[in-house]
Amino acid sequence: MEYFVKSGNPEKQRVACVIVGIFDRRAPSEAAETIDRAGDGIIGSVMRRGDMDGKLGQTLLLHNVPGTFADRVMLVGLGKERSFDEAAFRKAMIASAKALRATGSIDAVNFITHLPIKGRDYQWNVQQAALVTEDTYYRFDECRGEKAREDLPVSKLERYTFDVPRRSDLPAGEKGLAEALAIAKGVNLAKNLANLPGNLCTPTYLAEQALKIGKAGSGIKTKVLDTAEMEKLGMGSFLSVARGSSQPPKLIIMEYLHGPKDEKPIALVGKGLTFDAGGISIKPAAQMDEMKFDMCGGASVFGALTAIAELKLPLNVVGIVPATENLINGDAVKPGDIVTSMAGITIEVLNTDAEGRLILCDALTYAEKFYEPSLCVDMATLTGACVVALGSHASGLFANNSALARALLAAGEQIGDRAWELPMWPEYDENIRSDFADVANIATRGGREAGAIIGATFLHRFTRKMKWAHLDIAGTAWVGKKASGRPVPQLSQWLINVAAKKTEE
Ligand code: BES
Ligand code: MN
Ligand code: ZN
Repeated sequence: MEYFVKSGNPEKQRVACVIVGIFDRRAPSEAAETIDRAGDGIIGSVMRRGDMDGKLGQTLLLHNVPGTFADRVMLVGLGKERSFDEAAFRKAMIASAKALRATGSIDAVNFITHLPIKGRDYQWNVQQAALVTEDTYYRFDECRGEKAREDLPVSKLERYTFDVPRRSDLPAGEKGLAEALAIAKGVNLAKNLANLPGNLCTPTYLAEQALKIGKAGSGIKTKVLDTAEMEKLGMGSFLSVARGSSQPPKLIIMEYLHGPKDEKPIALVGKGLTFDAGGISIKPAAQMDEMKFDMCGGASVFGALTAIAELKLPLNVVGIVPATENLINGDAVKPGDIVTSMAGITIEVLNTDAEGRLILCDALTYAEKFYEPSLCVDMATLTGACVVALGSHASGLFANNSALARALLAAGEQIGDRAWELPMWPEYDENIRSDFADVANIATRGGREAGAIIGATFLHRFTRKMKWAHLDIAGTAWVGKKASGRPVPQLSQWLINVAAKKTEE
């Protein structure tokens, strides 16, 4: 499907479907009013019959509306005009997309993008409209049989236009659309990788995909380190997790260097556990299938790099993804084992299921040592505790630098992929004191309290020399049994903002 931005009159569109909004209590938006006037009050009479009240997300399809050139007019409820905010805008756009897919329309023009949202502009309206539409239309059918795939319903929609009020709004709209399409490409990639089961999406598979992304002309260069190379670097912590699996671990490094030559890169580090069974500290069976999603941090590094390469942002960014399984065999790391990380810090592994931090600490040290990043952000499905604390609406954010935290929070707010900051005070360091090593990989006091903070506190021990932030995406990276592609939007928006701020300077 192709997207467009235009500026036109609702009654004059020669398309299969024109979409206009209705506010609560049957109050038509301007575009709906225009159609009502052209059609001798048809919208008013439909509403008087009680078929459309303007409740947020409600939709109604009208055929052969007089005075218009479109085959159909779709009314979409917007809720109360006073409270028509960012969330309501997104809901109306999702409702439009779903209802549109149920029609036979091959093209459509949506006028809901005309409506002003406090503090936002037409670039935002179009970006959000395209992003939520792409999210709504995403499907994952790669693992169904041939016959089932042939029988899948196909969407007939080929061209979807978002309309803006004035011709002078077109450049903003176009910019928003270009951003949305680049970000959606990254989100879809992250979803595809994440939805793929663990037997197919192995560390080797992830490495192959990274090499594909880094093929000539992409602007991205990929390098993959194997076990022997990691041994040489002293990544004893990462490798201790991989020992329990027959799948060889990979350290995937992707360079996107298109900023000033002397400028230190931004590092994105993502947890790439292609399956987390917990190791010897094995997980309970229920919902263990969802641990195929434990590589969502890594997938979001792939996704964010894809988005910024698509937008050709003038930045230096390096993506680092430690990839492994966390399984059990006779060689698996055991509770009480002490391993030495690349940073030289010794770690007592008291729970083999707290493996994310064990692979991330070496990846973070690698980033610090070889890239001296100006900023470093890691993404990880790190703790069940973060799901308990924040649910699925916000990722947990931790940072040792307040400007970085603020920038990430604002970007998430802007694009609708939010995070919420949790503290990382030095007092928490006490909780991970080990009786035998420099640090323990789980709390040795305080029981299960503040689990998400404890995870972040552990990582903080390895990031003292960098401006660093950690996103715990355990609650946001998938919902139900479906990958969300988060935090690709947040990361992409943040990097777009960083690049924009630089060109201002
Ligand atoms: N990948 C899990 C975290 C997780 C659990 C994410 C459930 C999403 C849903 C992680 O490796 C893990 O097992 N963490 C442990 C840490 C604990 C042993 C300190 C957890 O959260 O239970
Ligand atoms: Mn685990
Ligand atoms: Zn895990």
